[in-house]
Amino acid sequence: MYVWPCAVVLAQYLWFHRRSLPGKAVLEIGAGVSLPGIVAAKCGAKVTLSDSAELPHCLEICRQSCRMNHLPQVPVLGLTWGHVSQDLLGLPPQDIVLASDVFFEPEDFEDILTTVYFLMQKNPRVQLWSTYQVRRALAVPA
Ligand SMILES: C[S@@+](CC[C@H](N)C(=O)[O-])C[C@H]1O[C@@H](n2cnc3c(N)ncnc32)[C@H](O)[C@@H]1O
Repeated sequence: MYVWPCAVVLAQYLWFHRRSLPGKAVLEIGAGVSLPGIVAAKCGAKVTLSDSAELPHCLEICRQSCRMNHLPQVPVLGLTWGHVSQDLLGLPPQDIVLASDVFFEPEDFEDILTTVYFLMQKNPRVQLWSTYQVRRALAVPA
């Protein structure tokens, strides 16, 4: 696992908007190394990190990032996109959802948006802050 370029861009965006973050409920989905969520927590947001419930090693990476950054209070949940699990049901209303480099596999897009849609039921004003990278290869004329 590594910090994807999108995570650096989203972390910079969070830092730029850091004055709006204290006290905000922020959920990072597909967090991996969790750089944006860690920055949000350092800026005073009430952060929850999440990654796929089916990828325990990724959840362990999230926990490790919390430990290394002295944020033991940040909860880490297994949230698989598109699954309405007990952990998703149990979340309080969120103000911001962070999604760094999760829009890379078109077949996952609907599941990601289903999770965001569910969070919108709890708080219709929730915002999705997302960065993505276009990976499509360019066709080079022969
Ligand atoms: C390209 S990585 C981005 C990681 C991190 N957000 C970053 O930008 O550095 C995609 C992340 O999505 C997670 N992921 C993949 N499929 C998932 C799913 N179905 N549900 C939840 N998370 C998933 C992976 O475990 C991984 O952490």
